[in-house]
Amino acid sequence: MKQIPMLDLKLEYEYMKTAVDDAIKKCLDHQRWILGPEVKELEDSIASYLGSKHCIGCCSGTDALTLSLRASSIKLRNEEYFSKTDKVITTSFTFTATGDAILRSGATPVFVDIDPVSFNMDTNQIEDYINSNKDVVGILPVHLYGQACNMDEIMRIAGEHNLFVIEDVAQAFGGGWKNSKLGSIGDTGAFSFFPSKNLGGFGDGGMISTNDDSIMELLRMLLRHGGKDKYNVDHIGYNARIDTLQAAIVLAKFKYIDEFNERRRHIAGTYSKNLSGISNLTLPHTGSLPEGHVYHQYTVRTSLRQKLQTYLKEKGVSTMVYYPFPLHKMKVFDGRSINHGQLTNAETATEEVLSLPMEPLQSDDTTKYITDTICNFFEDN
Ligand SMILES: Cc1ncc(COP(=O)(O)O)c(C=O)c1O
Repeated sequence: MKQIPMLDLKLEYEYMKTAVDDAIKKCLDHQRWILGPEVKELEDSIASYLGSKHCIGCCSGTDALTLSLRASSIKLRNEEYFSKTDKVITTSFTFTATGDAILRSGATPVFVDIDPVSFNMDTNQIEDYINSNKDVVGILPVHLYGQACNMDEIMRIAGEHNLFVIEDVAQAFGGGWKNSKLGSIGDTGAFSFFPSKNLGGFGDGGMISTNDDSIMELLRMLLRHGGKDKYNVDHIGYNARIDTLQAAIVLAKFKYIDEFNERRRHIAGTYSKNLSGISNLTLPHTGSLPEGHVYHQYTVRTSLRQKLQTYLKEKGVSTMVYYPFPLHKMKVFDGRSINHGQLTNAETATEEVLSLPMEPLQSDDTTKYITDTICNFFEDN
């Protein structure tokens, strides 16, 4: 039986083999493993792609978020960490790293509910919380599954209340909001090069984008032990640089990002066409700006999620549940976070969502096999 993975990184490597192998060979030749030339080249290339003034490479998407928050605290408060009374509004329906980074910066995460259609934070809920509570310092929107949050609304609210905005762009490299690239709109954008991301490396890696010179300087210090001179430091820093080798690989793969995002959109278009009209299956909503979505995941929802997932597995089709638990139900956030209201939409999403295979090099035949199998399931259920 045909086995269809969520993603086939080996296939992608073979497609880009010459570019990637050449990039690795160049590193082997120059041997400049820490902050070698590829790091700056990657930072400059991505800054220019995003239309951001600066990009700063780092170890992971998690570090990109933590460093962004720490730099904001130093800039705004002149303190190494936020205090517990400082609140950062985010979503409960995301990967744990989003909320963990807020805890690590010393602040308290405030979870607001999501919009059930886009799966992203409900901007009315953000405003609702701010209007009746004080001490909010920032907003951390996540462009989940590659779908842009409503950045007009988020930036308006942030502007009116003097809040910083850190975009979690881990799942949305190359995505857009109107005429801007995601990650270039807020005070900082935090990207992940985890291997399965739209732009993924061969290990961990990340990037922060910003237009703010002082934040850029703080970030560069924090990720190199906390100082301009690593033998005489100013801040409580980290060793969180991106490796030269990782930067070289990501740089080689970066040349394919627009092509690959286009391939994702093509697969998503076929899924949506072939699966339309099934009553117990809700398809992703692309909003009025379909060009903004880069389909890191193509995520459907159904009350028969478990049964459908088992059926697809029997037919050789892999699927994943992103995410089975909302952050506010995790032990780590217990007593360390605030829930704004019941977060019912986030909880229901964790019970109903199912992400389908999204390998950019997946053939049309494979996509059709997946949708035929889903249609067969719903004919009997
Ligand atoms: C939404 C989101 N935020 C943050 C991260 C953290 O990125 P990383 O795994 O590179 O630390 C991820 C990815 O795993 C993610 O999906």
